[in-house]
Amino acid sequence: MNFKDKLSKDKLPKHIAIIMDGNGRWAKGLGKLRIFGHQSGVGAVREAMEGAVDVGVKYLTLYAFSSENWNRPKLEVKALMELLVNTLAKETKTFMANGIRLNTIGDLSALPKHCQKTLQDAIAETQHNSNCVLTLALSYGSRAELVDATKAIVRKIQEGLLQLEDLNEQTISEHLYTANIPDPDLLIRTGGEQRISNYLLYQMAYTELYFLDKMWPEFNREDLFQAIYQYQQRERRFGKTSEQL
Ligand code: FPP
Repeated sequence: MNFKDKLSKDKLPKHIAIIMDGNGRWAKGLGKLRIFGHQSGVGAVREAMEGAVDVGVKYLTLYAFSSENWNRPKLEVKALMELLVNTLAKETKTFMANGIRLNTIGDLSALPKHCQKTLQDAIAETQHNSNCVLTLALSYGSRAELVDATKAIVRKIQEGLLQLEDLNEQTISEHLYTANIPDPDLLIRTGGEQRISNYLLYQMAYTELYFLDKMWPEFNREDLFQAIYQYQQRERRFGKTSEQL
């Protein structure tokens, strides 16, 4: 089925977050090394990016490396970092052609220096693009993000820059790594698992969740359009009743 033609333009999710899961299992199924799965996952990243731009999704956030992923075998971590550097260097052309602005969330200081440099360069080169903001969650953990936000807020209160009585939900949003990004409307997770895995916990309070069994390297833009189509069939009530909407 062609889902793209069935999408209603006025109900597009503004922000889609993705958990790209299943690279390792997909490669293993083919009798290959896990890293082959990650390498093959780059094609799916391109599909997701181009698909998002094609239909007018303004924010796309990809979980590329979690803070827990540092505990993987050293060789896999090293290979993932190299893949990131090589991909960014190569894909900057795709970012420019599609008007994509690169952004990151997470503890980048934990990344090897040359990765940090490649990221900074790609961010600088794409800073004036305005079709879509592509955020890579790298060395990212949502609980760590909440701890950092809490520390920043407490510091402001101690310094008298913020009154305790003025602290509200908006204050917390504004101190997260995602301060300038709207909350995700839709979360897509490939690979058959149905969990959130320490991803954007505060931001996903009202996000619609969409899980599919496909492994990430097989994900393509038609899957993205199907997910958006399914999202558009749902009624988002934000705690209200149907009649109140
Ligand atoms: C999860 O699959 C995937 C990752 C930890 C890495 C995702 C990285 C990419 C798709 C490659 C490049 C990305 C960018 C942005 C350049 P898994 O290894 O946990 O799979 P498994 O559950 O089958 O083991």
